[in-house]
Amino acid sequence: MSRALIDGVTDKKTKEYAMANVGLFYGSTTGSTLKVAEQIQQAFGADAVDLLDVRQASPDDLKRYDALIFGTSTWHWGGLQDEWAVFEDHLSAEALAGKKVAFFGLGDQKHYPDHFVDGIGLLYEKVKPLGAQLVGTWPKDDYSYNASAAEHNGHFVGLALDEDSQPEKTPTRIQVWVQQLKEELA
Ligand SMILES: Cc1cc2nc3c(=O)[nH]c(=O)nc-3n(C[C@H](O)[C@H](O)[C@H](O)COP(=O)(O)O)c2cc1C
Repeated sequence: MSRALIDGVTDKKTKEYAMANVGLFYGSTTGSTLKVAEQIQQAFGADAVDLLDVRQASPDDLKRYDALIFGTSTWHWGGLQDEWAVFEDHLSAEALAGKKVAFFGLGDQKHYPDHFVDGIGLLYEKVKPLGAQLVGTWPKDDYSYNASAAEHNGHFVGLALDEDSQPEKTPTRIQVWVQQLKEELA
């Protein structure tokens, strides 16, 4: 390989991963969280983020990345998405050591106002004691709900999205959150 080509490859890699090497793990029952995960991946820029479905991901996959994004919907009136309920057992201090972790979640504030995006809160409670650095909190303004397990200290502990009641707000929320994450992960 010529020197110029080697330099070119090195430059490209440096640029792609200057921010972080990010793994986005998602669980999605009807496909909405997957759709949003793809939008987040796109907002980061082509090769910066790998998408991993928690149905297929292994515990070792968690160790491959400097930064992790966990995306879940909420089901069963305040429960974690079904496949996440299985994969969350793989979240250990060993797997998350030295990593930055962010959360996003989908819910429906109109029909489940007492459990809005609780899944984010459930993952947060699982991850919080494990020693990872948590990033990506999000303001709770501009939503209408009664209670959420994802709300702590006056904000959501991750990006809350509502494809059922506020789909028109999703693109902008993603753009703003990803910009914030790029800075927090740099
Ligand atoms: C039976 C049922 C229960 C649900 N429970 C909740 C809930 O407790 N809290 C919430 O915010 N959303 C709840 N939702 C809304 C889903 O989280 C929402 O539709 C989400 O976009 C689904 O994403 P997914 O297809 O990726 O799983 C529920 C939806 C259904 C159909």
